[in-house]
Amino acid sequence: MIDFIKEARALFPYTQSMRRDFHIHPELGFHEVRTGGIVAKELEALGLEVTKGVGKTGVVGLLEGSKPGATILLRFDMDALPIIEETGAEYASQNQGVMHACGHDGHTAMGLTVARILQNHRDELNGTIKFCFQPSEEGFNGEEMGGNEMMIRDGVLDGPKVDQTLSMHLWNEQPVGWIGVGKGPVMAGAELFTIKIIGKGGHGAAPHLTIDPIIAAGQVVTALQTITSRNVAPLQSAVVSVTTVHSGTAFNVIPQDAELTGTIRTFDLDVRKKVLERFEQIIRGIGEAMGCQVEITVKRVTPAVINNDAVSERVQETAHQLLSDSTIDTAPYMTMGAEDMAFMQEKVPGCYFFIGSNNKERHLDYGHHHPKFDFDEEALVRGTALMAAAAMDVLKSK
Ligand code: NI
Repeated sequence: MIDFIKEARALFPYTQSMRRDFHIHPELGFHEVRTGGIVAKELEALGLEVTKGVGKTGVVGLLEGSKPGATILLRFDMDALPIIEETGAEYASQNQGVMHACGHDGHTAMGLTVARILQNHRDELNGTIKFCFQPSEEGFNGEEMGGNEMMIRDGVLDGPKVDQTLSMHLWNEQPVGWIGVGKGPVMAGAELFTIKIIGKGGHGAAPHLTIDPIIAAGQVVTALQTITSRNVAPLQSAVVSVTTVHSGTAFNVIPQDAELTGTIRTFDLDVRKKVLERFEQIIRGIGEAMGCQVEITVKRVTPAVINNDAVSERVQETAHQLLSDSTIDTAPYMTMGAEDMAFMQEKVPGCYFFIGSNNKERHLDYGHHHPKFDFDEEALVRGTALMAAAAMDVLKSK
């Protein structure tokens, strides 16, 4: 068996310098021009067939093994977030207001390192590897869809047709040395919603002459919480979060309307249906009771990420063989976070796994999307090694 850990460790200086360079120069979704440019240049230098502009700023590199076989797609996301960095790290963002606060800088760097490693093992490779560097995982960023969907639209799963996918996330909720490879659902499906409540404005001192949308909005916020506590079965999971509330302009004016936005997260399709039904009933019911009109918009952001059993079992075996000093957690590991890799995994069997990356002693344990988020770079070695080994093993078993 190839010692992928040793190879990933030998290339660690490369991985680290790439990661830090991306961290210094973060770019928002669909603006990953510099990042994508570096990715394309690095892949071309390895002799891969590179296609740019797949899903706007996405980059695809093809590595053909010497032996015939299936095609596996490895996904790495490249985008940063609109956050003002507070890590104080020497490699902190120089792009004010934009920050790699989710670890996608590490993902991109690991992807390039995996390409280097597997290029060296072309002779032992059965089939083709499609390196997929995806833009805009964090949201639509003004486009009609996110990066994953847009790459699918631009044909990333065709020619050569993709048979399986692998993807991973550095995971600061777990320490370095923890690896999570579960079967079944791993990340929730997400919807975002906007609720507009329209009343009748007037003087703050004459409420009886108005229809107060703020009172109705308050009741909607509270009542929506009964969906998860009273409509979803206790052993199943869902989230309904109202995350913005906007209304009013002055202390003595009852406003005309109020607007609420938020998100719904579910794993199971029946639970999702139930939550959406109750969501609408509750809002319309309160609107009617309070004499307000309501307008509800619910937009599906991503389905749930569901891991394929066979592919995940193969990755679990690889992890056990390769990372004997790590904790390999194969219990269903679910998070309510959403991830647009769900779209590819809806079409092609795949496995999405987690690489523990926190280090409490070094205070590298802030959560994802926090202005002080940073991770232990040792995780990059394990993530790189596991991705390279798993890609090779999955192709071999096909
Ligand atoms: Ni992320």
